[in-house]
Amino acid sequence: MLPGGAAVKRPFHRRLWALLVHCRSMNLLAGKRILLGISGGIAAYKSAELVRLLRAAGAEVRVLMTAAATGFVGAQTFQALSGQPVYCDWNDEHDAMGHIELARWADFMLVAPATADTLARLAQGRADDLLAAVCLASEAPLAVAPAMNRGMWQHPATRANVSLLRERGVHVWGPAEGEQACGESGPGRMLEPTELLQALSQSFASGRLAGVEVVVTAGPTREPLDPVRFLSNRSSGKMGYALATAARDAGARVTLVSGPVALEAPEGVERVLVETAQEMLQAVLERMEGCRLFIATAAVADYRPRHPAQEKIKKQADELVLRLEPAPDILATVAARTPRPVCVGFAAETQELERYAHRKRLAKGVEMIAANRVGAGLGFDSDDNELLLVWEGGSRRLARDRKSRLARQLVDEIATRYFPRSGEEKAAGHHAKYSA
Ligand code: PMT
Repeated sequence: MLPGGAAVKRPFHRRLWALLVHCRSMNLLAGKRILLGISGGIAAYKSAELVRLLRAAGAEVRVLMTAAATGFVGAQTFQALSGQPVYCDWNDEHDAMGHIELARWADFMLVAPATADTLARLAQGRADDLLAAVCLASEAPLAVAPAMNRGMWQHPATRANVSLLRERGVHVWGPAEGEQACGESGPGRMLEPTELLQALSQSFASGRLAGVEVVVTAGPTREPLDPVRFLSNRSSGKMGYALATAARDAGARVTLVSGPVALEAPEGVERVLVETAQEMLQAVLERMEGCRLFIATAAVADYRPRHPAQEKIKKQADELVLRLEPAPDILATVAARTPRPVCVGFAAETQELERYAHRKRLAKGVEMIAANRVGAGLGFDSDDNELLLVWEGGSRRLARDRKSRLARQLVDEIATRYFPRSGEEKAAGHHAKYSA
């Protein structure tokens, strides 16, 4: 509303743009784990709204407050908004996650508001309160949203602390200029919650596969024995769905060809549901035009029943012999085409991971193989995984982590090797604070 009471009506294209930006934010933040650190400033009240917006965008949020922060907004407010216990000091660890676990949990850490004192403490690498210790222990990207009096912001000591943090790869969002709580005017206001939401969202949008068409396969296949039975495997689709999400976040247009799984299609990804290896092959081949990257995560049957019965097989003798024939090899078929996309396959192995990974890469004729050990509680149907990436003349180990995080690392590696951008800057945030 204008001061006189007249409503400000934004032009249609501006409203549409705002809506699109909003929808994009929803997409990128869905399922992301945001650790929000709150230090003692009046702007702490704005962080309550930020928590609400993050949850509405589908993010998981955990809040960590300094003792001073609790003097501005009560921990109960953040507990209610985040739906999680709030961490205020070391003792809280007995009831919830330990500080190292909390540091590992986060996909991204944001300290908002970050007071002058907090910036100084982070610059010094202090670990004598929970917030500083978690910032020190976490390998997740870190951003700070400064909020303080303009004199404090402009002081050479604060300027030096901010430069040091920036050098270490910490993102500094804001501050904005304007009226301050102390009655002065100038730089020092914390950014608005919607601006911080947008910045957080953008930090997950690397743009490293911008405009690239990607086809990902995921999940198991089912090969019918008769109308009610099939041969299949334990793949849950989690790894493939995480890759589709990571490729989408990197700006790719993603088609996910999926076997039967219990997962929702990631927003903004076109999903094609199939059952058999033959159906998966067909769906993939139909989407090869324009495709520049093919990631074969699906656990596709190597063999299928040669003659599936038309009627339910009756229990008759003590022994039933099934005759199997090779199922189509989707990855090898795509890799043999001309022209063809960059091909990345997976290898599920129970032994000699490295040797079999190299062998499989050559046998399938693909650029890269991501090999994982499979067995009880490993690879299949777990939330975590660990990968050995092999390519011609090189390899890289991705340590045990959540599949969503491994997927982002794998997509980054693929983008760096096969889709480099001219003058490419370092991937935003990823462990950057340790790289200086
Ligand atoms: O789905 P999750 O529960 O998250 O588990 C993830 C996973 C363990 C299934 C995944 O990380 C994985 O390893 N996928 C590949 C499993 C597999 O079939 O591996 P393979 O070594 O048998 O096959 C090698 C490659 O050829 C794979 O890229 C596979 O998709 C492809 N293939 C295999 C057989 C076939 N007939 N056609 C294929 O395209």
